[in-house]
Amino acid sequence: MSDAAAIQPFARPLSGDARVPGDKSISHRAVLFAAMAEGTSHLEGVLDSEDVRSSMKVVSQLGAQVNLEKGPDGSLSGTVTGWGAAGPVQPDGPLDCGNSGTTARLLMGMLAPWEVEAVITGDESLCRRPMRRNTAPLMKMGVQFEPAEADHLPITEIGTPNLRAITYDAPMASAQLKTAVLLAGVRAQGTTTLNEPAPSRNHTELMLPEFGVPTTAGTRVATVTGPVLMHASDIAVPGDPSSAAFLCAAAILMRGSSICVQDVSLNPARTGFVRTLERMGAKIEDARTGAEGKEPYGSICASYSPSLHGCEVPAQHFASIVDEVPILAIVAAHAKGVTVFKGAGELRVKETDRLQAIMDGLETIGVDAWEEGDNLYIEGDPDLTVAPDVEFDSRGDHRLAMTWAVLGMCAGVPVKIRGFESIAISFPGFLDALRALEA
Ligand code: S3P
Repeated sequence: MSDAAAIQPFARPLSGDARVPGDKSISHRAVLFAAMAEGTSHLEGVLDSEDVRSSMKVVSQLGAQVNLEKGPDGSLSGTVTGWGAAGPVQPDGPLDCGNSGTTARLLMGMLAPWEVEAVITGDESLCRRPMRRNTAPLMKMGVQFEPAEADHLPITEIGTPNLRAITYDAPMASAQLKTAVLLAGVRAQGTTTLNEPAPSRNHTELMLPEFGVPTTAGTRVATVTGPVLMHASDIAVPGDPSSAAFLCAAAILMRGSSICVQDVSLNPARTGFVRTLERMGAKIEDARTGAEGKEPYGSICASYSPSLHGCEVPAQHFASIVDEVPILAIVAAHAKGVTVFKGAGELRVKETDRLQAIMDGLETIGVDAWEEGDNLYIEGDPDLTVAPDVEFDSRGDHRLAMTWAVLGMCAGVPVKIRGFESIAISFPGFLDALRALEA
């Protein structure tokens, strides 16, 4: 691992307008669904990050033609010609999904109806993450996995053209699991139904109809009816609210700040952090300005908020903040009273054990944070100070790296972050985006 990066504090309050790169979840889906479709899709605003590059690489190995190029705004645009009715080709080697759980888990559903034999693997972090949640329903549909009982990559998948449609009660709210089952269902005979214990992000249900797949989506239930041949589509990706959350949290904590992030996805399944920050007394507001397909987008404006207080996030809402808990934890650490994130167990199986990482990082700066069952508690301190040069370990997790950076930058002291380069997974221009707001 490289040396710890030294992150310098903000010298001035943040102000003005910002844009964030394309939404990671929507970018993955645009690339992957276009690869499955017959014909040539036109994509724009695709996030250029290591995770999305993993999706681009594996679909290329499977025979899709990916011609996406970086434009002046740093996003990727161009075409993807899919394998359509011909199906994917037998890959020349293992499909390495890098750090990307979305790539690996969605791929399992994409490969389900085809007789190719594919080894799915990833980096050390991805190979530690649970996969049985995905292989179990796909096996019910007729897919073979080797080893059959494996919960971890590498796993070999052998699909079948005779997929059975199923009704499946997911044990956890996971859009990655839901999407894998729905993607397999696209080519199964009949209606595949996925029931969830709580609503997870619904980008798949919103985007599949654009590729010609009849889909229904209710709260906690999604269906597709197959078999359908997906056709090419044109997709424009809005900004990533998960990246915007870091900028908003910085404005809320940095005295005198006031910023607006423009053209960001305002899908309600993703803006739980705005609702949570409102409940903590933060000055934050979202406003819809348009929609790309069925995905709403608009602005999120946030200002310095001196009177934050703790709040409770119910388990039913957890999926809507699942990627924002680390940065929300930093805001909670500055709030008066206790904040509780209920049903936070999924954090243990993210890029690293984020529950433990949040508690350990907060302990470093003297903030009390503890878990009880699946709930995460944080006792805030409005007078919180951070000692200069304190060192945090990102554990190779992009969202933790950005979280500790925002903490230090707003605290007015330099901090050190091990594994800071992991920000390239989702937001390579993170520091530049923050520094531009300081001007
Ligand atoms: C994602 C779903 C979530 C999220 C991840 C992206 C997606 O994971 O944490 O960053 O694009 O479907 P789970 O589905 O495992 O909750």
